[in-house]
Amino acid sequence: MTETIRNFVVFEGGDGSGTTTQLSLLERRFRGNAMGLVFHPTCEPTDGPVGALIRSVLEKKIALHPLALARLFAADRAEHLYGPGGIIERSGRGELVVSDRYVLSSLVYQGIECGDELPRTLNAPFPAPELLLFFDLDPQTACERLKNRPALELYEHLEFQQKVREKYLSLIGEYQKSGGRVEIIDASKSQEEAAAEVWRVILKMPILKTGR
Ligand code: TMP
Repeated sequence: MTETIRNFVVFEGGDGSGTTTQLSLLERRFRGNAMGLVFHPTCEPTDGPVGALIRSVLEKKIALHPLALARLFAADRAEHLYGPGGIIERSGRGELVVSDRYVLSSLVYQGIECGDELPRTLNAPFPAPELLLFFDLDPQTACERLKNRPALELYEHLEFQQKVREKYLSLIGEYQKSGGRVEIIDASKSQEEAAAEVWRVILKMPILKTGR
């Protein structure tokens, strides 16, 4: 990833690390204190047609080869970025866009499943976020949290999640060396403590410091 998208933030982490919960807490925080900007929470897989197909694979309703799934994640991302009302359009007009997962998820999950080369090639053209928040959580604790869900998805088991955390940590190191901005959030803390940490980090963004 070379070019950077201003006003675009990404939450990343293993399954059960709380990215989705933290994004809704952040949305709530902005609703109560809009600070004169439009906040747009979003996620991958998206709720578009490709994202819906991916969700049925994750829910194990249909089976696809990992090499096909890797391409679907990239197609969904392209639409998410460049489609109408997408990340580029919204961040370009000064909205603060925060996505629950982005390129790094593919480099990690599809990297484990297909090897590094394919996800790297598919995702190389996509621009980088201004800021990435990594929610770090021990996979054992994450899997305990996942047990409360009605059904487990494709990647939600301990052995895979151990590989996921290892790969995130190694790729984040690489990403930081190449100039990417990352903040690590200790996801073992309570929801409230983690949310306070997220807020502290977000408040440092230029869009919030200087206004638009
Ligand atoms: P979640 O957003 O509800 O955590 O579920 C999305 C699942 O899809 C999660 O297990 C991570 C996985 N995923 C990939 O494997 N590759 C990707 O590029 C993305 C965005 C998600």
